[in-house]
Amino acid sequence: MGFQKDFAWGAATSSYQIEGAAYEDGKGLHIWDVFCREKGKVFGGDTGDVACDHYHRFKEDVAIMKEMGLKAYRFSLSWPRILPEGTGKVNEAGIRFYNRLIDELLGAGIEPYITLFHWDYPYELYKKGGWMNDESPEWFGEYAKVVAENFSDRVTHYFTLNEPQCFIGLGFLQGEHAPGLRCPVKDTLLMAHNTLKGHGRAVQALREFGKQPLTVGYAPTSTILYPATKHEEDVEAARKAYFSLPDVENWSWNVSWWSDPVIFGAYPEEGLKKYEAYLPKITDADMKLISEPIDIYGQNIYNGRCVRMGQDGKPEEVKRPAGAQTTAMDWPVTPQCLYWGPKFLQERYHKPIYITENGLSCRDVVSADGRVHDAGRIDFLANYLAELKRAAADGVDIRGYFQWSLMDNFEWARGYAERFGLIYVDYDSQQRIWKDSAYWYKSVIEANGENI
Ligand code: FCB
Repeated sequence: MGFQKDFAWGAATSSYQIEGAAYEDGKGLHIWDVFCREKGKVFGGDTGDVACDHYHRFKEDVAIMKEMGLKAYRFSLSWPRILPEGTGKVNEAGIRFYNRLIDELLGAGIEPYITLFHWDYPYELYKKGGWMNDESPEWFGEYAKVVAENFSDRVTHYFTLNEPQCFIGLGFLQGEHAPGLRCPVKDTLLMAHNTLKGHGRAVQALREFGKQPLTVGYAPTSTILYPATKHEEDVEAARKAYFSLPDVENWSWNVSWWSDPVIFGAYPEEGLKKYEAYLPKITDADMKLISEPIDIYGQNIYNGRCVRMGQDGKPEEVKRPAGAQTTAMDWPVTPQCLYWGPKFLQERYHKPIYITENGLSCRDVVSADGRVHDAGRIDFLANYLAELKRAAADGVDIRGYFQWSLMDNFEWARGYAERFGLIYVDYDSQQRIWKDSAYWYKSVIEANGENI
């Protein structure tokens, strides 16, 4: 058995990475608008002011998706485009834009999957302390209510947060992403607690104000730890390492601190001990809110690290061979992560799984024949999807896969240096060019993955 019959073959994007129109139609500022203006923060001084100009070209982009045969499209809403100040007054032009996009998708037979928050945090709320503020979960809940009221008559699938590991870790611990701070650990654990409460409030609001029953999930990320062999002790070593917690200075990069509370209503014991001195006040009511039941579990998966059981009975990492393959962004190429990731996650959390992002950046160029021959991307995706298919064949309930990304776009601190798309974007002319991988992906969708 391979992929399920109604498998959601999709592609993903996010608002700031593609929309542009950063200062149009009443959109409020967000922390990335501001961060990109600080010197030396983003490669080449790039900004998302124009990006792929999707705000004006969405019809053309949906036509491409239709031609590609996409069944599903995961995109995020820009919170300050909808609520310029983060709460309060609704910007009707923002609502109109998303309504038109949704209608265009539905007209093309493509199922919209909305991500509520993919990092473009309203600047007005940031000025009030952002996720540090005790009211921040309520703010996110209010935003989710507005989304439910306006879009849930037509959109049934939602993810709350994209990769909290990154927007807290990279944004507030390492300082590489907006707002570019290096905060005390204690503050970041408080922010994390509030983002999780915000997630819970959003789930409640979507259910309460949804115009029909909605399917709600969460889209965290992780590096997958996969076993060196199929032997049970190596598998156990990988599983253990995967769900264990890092030391406190680098605490945010992990699975269980972010997902155990959402699914089990409890933080993992290991973390409660390790981070004890830095924790905010955590109440039973908080944990109840955070674990408001969700329907589906999304996970962004790009790569992993290989682990085996060491002589001393502890998991140990297996060094990659010299010259092992990496992507243009220097991320390791490890297809096994799409087998072991979904498997470990489902064994632990017992939810249907969506791969909410997977892909790679390549040094793509337009060749003399006017085309983009990205054989490396096809190879990568074929190997990764083969592992995902193997997981499905082994009984893991995988409902969908979203390629990151539909088109080249603004890759955060890397600006336009990285090309992750199936579609090449010439940023000067805004011309879209199908890469070879886009044609290939179309054939995979047509065959429901049988040709993998
Ligand atoms: C993920 C982000 C996404 C994109 C990819 C390459 O961490 O969610 O926006 O940047 O990486």
